[in-house]
Amino acid sequence: MIMDKRPIGVFDSGLGGLTVVKALKKLLPNESILYFGDTARLPYGVKSKDLVIQYSNQIAGFLIKKNAKMIIIACNTATAMALKELENNFKDIPIIGVIGPSSIQASLESINKNIGVIGTIATIKSNAYESALKSIDKNINVFSKDCPLFVPFVEEGMVEGEAINLIVEHYLSSFRNDIDTMILGCTHYPLLEPVIKKYVSDIKLVDSASAVAKYANDILNDCKIKNGYNKEGSLECFVTDLPRQFEKLGRIFLGETIKEPQLVNEF
Ligand code: DGL
Repeated sequence: MIMDKRPIGVFDSGLGGLTVVKALKKLLPNESILYFGDTARLPYGVKSKDLVIQYSNQIAGFLIKKNAKMIIIACNTATAMALKELENNFKDIPIIGVIGPSSIQASLESINKNIGVIGTIATIKSNAYESALKSIDKNINVFSKDCPLFVPFVEEGMVEGEAINLIVEHYLSSFRNDIDTMILGCTHYPLLEPVIKKYVSDIKLVDSASAVAKYANDILNDCKIKNGYNKEGSLECFVTDLPRQFEKLGRIFLGETIKEPQLVNEF
């Protein structure tokens, strides 16, 4: 039995990556997790590629210094822009993004091969999902839509109510294109799943969180770095601003208490 007790490093621009943490804790309860939410520099979805690469490098370096045995980029935007760069810069440990695993899952779920993708402006503009899906099966048709207002609503904890209903309707009511499967291509979006489902009740939704957790499990096994020690792992959080707000909303999203997040001022 392998007992690699080093933590898994997970990062996102803010709270959204906690959806990945939730899925990881469910599937891999023994693993300890370091979570980094870059709350001072959120949102990433409207920033340039160079800047997102710079932020991602800093955060991955920080988590590796804290002894992370694997990095999960729990952000579609950062995956689309910085995965290759991080793989090149940090060759000693596995670096996992969310786009590959979600695309595989969607390709398995879709019957008519018409797959929708919703995400931030940056993710949609990067065409990263389109390339990933086409490389799995070139006959897949991809229909993409950016939904830039979703992230600020989630970061405010406004995941239900009249305002978010109107916004979801605005983005999704005309976005059908005969798709039978839709990827929630932003780690913030699973928190809106109940509202989204109301407008696309006949479409299968694929969220990056559970897809990436399954993939992380495979990589931990393949690299022989899984923690077989039978004790619940810990969760330690780091943020670049507003730790109290992160703690308060994070608790709601994660469904459990978050130990006070540590504020990171420099890398
Ligand atoms: N959670 C990020 C993603 O998956 C987006 C949030 C942001 O724009 O910073 O793309």
